[in-house]
Amino acid sequence: MNSNERDVLCVKDLHVHVATSKGVSTLIQDINFEVKKGQILGLVGESGCGKTVTSMSILQLHDKNNLQIKGSITLEGKELNGLENKEMRKIRGKDIAFVMQNPMNAFTPVFTIGHQFIETIKSHTSLTKKQAKELAMDVLESVNLENPNKLLKSYPFQLSGGMLQRVMIAIAACLQPSVIIADEPTTALDLHSQLLVLRLLDKIRTEYGTAILLISHDLGVISEMADDCIVMQNGRIVESANVLELFDNPKHEYTRQLLRTRPTLYSEKQPYTYML
Ligand SMILES: Nc1ncnc2c1ncn2[C@@H]1O[C@H](COP(=O)(O)OP(=O)(O)OP(=O)(O)O)[C@@H](O)[C@H]1O
Ligand SMILES: [Mg+2]
Repeated sequence: MNSNERDVLCVKDLHVHVATSKGVSTLIQDINFEVKKGQILGLVGESGCGKTVTSMSILQLHDKNNLQIKGSITLEGKELNGLENKEMRKIRGKDIAFVMQNPMNAFTPVFTIGHQFIETIKSHTSLTKKQAKELAMDVLESVNLENPNKLLKSYPFQLSGGMLQRVMIAIAACLQPSVIIADEPTTALDLHSQLLVLRLLDKIRTEYGTAILLISHDLGVISEMADDCIVMQNGRIVESANVLELFDNPKHEYTRQLLRTRPTLYSEKQPYTYML
């Protein structure tokens, strides 16, 4: 198998332009990368560099009134850029799942977790409600979430942020998508919940071979989780490398700067590492 056959998601020459009252300006440009089956690709860069614009473009969830996307985004060889909303809705959730920063926003407060989990499964499969519930229970169990029956009966506000994020990842994983895009999945969580969420993502890629695009501004998370990493600055990729190489021998000045300004991860005063 050559490497191209393992590429699940390919982004080529991606540019996103925005129309403003002062003319057209460019949010991201010349973005090129691939994510392979079972690979975790880290995407890092400071706030505002274009990480979320990149992920929203892949999911075709951008603001279509004023953003224009140029370039190619292929999922298992199928072009996503410019697909009709109806087509894209079938793909989102089933073939390409999304885990966002604030899990509370992903759930509707008035429905139970079970209702939302089961509806997601039903909307992408021909399973009955009973079968969908069984699948939901199996997935919750397989990702080590205790008491799945009680969980499914809970409302979102009854769960902690960390628990909700793990449920959201379980929902994302249940249809075994080829790709999960996780945009700052641990940023809003305490350290313990961060670890559980990261372990869960790692388990999913190992067990299902899911390709994961892991977006984070936290280099500690990227160094523990990712195989390869791309670094963005001002809407462009400035460096792309195997994660060990990137940390040992950063080539671009901006990457060096990011590594230097890493928070206290490896400082003697407050040492902690992500133990997965
Ligand atoms: N719909 C939009 N219209 C105009 N500008 C936008 C739009 N969406 C994003 N931007 C701009 O694009 C740039 C990149 O934003 P983006 O949200 O991708 O940053 P980010 O790297 O995800 O940052 P953070 O780490 O804070 O999440 C920002 O300057 C933002 O203001
Ligand atoms: Mg963002």
